[in-house]
Amino acid sequence: MKNKVQGLTYNQSNLNYRIRELEVSITSKCHLRCDNCGFYIPQQPNPAATENIVSEIVTGLKHLQKLNIKIGSLGVLGGEPTFNQKILITSLQDFSKFDNIERIEVVTHGLTPQNISKETYQFINKLTISIYFDSDELTELWKNYISKFAPHVELSLRTDKDWDKWLGDEIADDSKAQEMFDFCWYRKHCVTIERQRLFMCSRIAKLSQDNEGIILNEKTTIEQVVNYLNQNTFITSCKTCTPMMGLPTVKAGQQPDNRILNLLPKAIDFLKTELNE
Ligand SMILES: C[S@@+](CC[C@H](N)C(=O)[O-])C[C@H]1O[C@@H](n2cnc3c(N)ncnc32)[C@H](O)[C@@H]1O
Ligand code: SF4
Ligand code: SF4
Repeated sequence: MKNKVQGLTYNQSNLNYRIRELEVSITSKCHLRCDNCGFYIPQQPNPAATENIVSEIVTGLKHLQKLNIKIGSLGVLGGEPTFNQKILITSLQDFSKFDNIERIEVVTHGLTPQNISKETYQFINKLTISIYFDSDELTELWKNYISKFAPHVELSLRTDKDWDKWLGDEIADDSKAQEMFDFCWYRKHCVTIERQRLFMCSRIAKLSQDNEGIILNEKTTIEQVVNYLNQNTFITSCKTCTPMMGLPTVKAGQQPDNRILNLLPKAIDFLKTELNE
């Protein structure tokens, strides 16, 4: 029988708790408008409760560090993490100082390489490009660019053709919601810090269901984190969770207009020029 998901794992040998993958959004802005965007663009709420998103996330990470919780991979996303070049580099500089974070992954649409300075790459272990563009030329340029200027970075090209259906009015009964929760892919891969809270999945954070997360501050105890991430019973949002219902998938990265085509030439020109210099 399949094992039920635990948001937090425990390593007996070094007595550490571990979150496999933790996600943070450094902006809610994006150049694209993908249909069924898993982060609810353009309706995504502000991931920060204050003016300073970076220091807010750093404070959350410090608490997890203090509680001796290891983070297998920190996913840096948005919206689009390259939307603001300065926030990208300052956040990565800060995140890379944590010794409880094993690796840092930036996930981007790959259409604004000019917004990632060469210095930025020193703070990244993995760059994932979600390929929504139809250009082998841009893909090849990215490969050459990373191997020339940031060879230590693992480049992952994500070419999903289908996505989970994110929007819809379907409602699961309690036993189905419990099953979705017990074997939830997102609880394994998308634990999230947002608005000074910890969320068991990015979906409830992006739905602004702050009451379904827990406050993450200096008073938060390890018991609270364990009881929350490893709880046994589904939460209210699971009942409406179309991405986990096993519904027919939707086409990935579909835009309402030609904004990808508009961004493409600049991205190609930038990478070409840098490679030829
Ligand atoms: C929400 S995006 C944010 C980062 C960046 N803007 C991007 O698109 O790569 C993070 C990842 O979620 C994936 N994603 C977005 N919507 C999805 C959906 N409905 N189902 C499954 N994955 C989805 C994207 O392909 C991307 O790799
Ligand atoms: S690129 Fe698409 S999937 Fe990524 S955040 Fe923007 S709208 Fe969502
Ligand atoms: S709301 Fe969906 S993604 Fe979040 S824990 Fe429930 S089933 Fe998983």
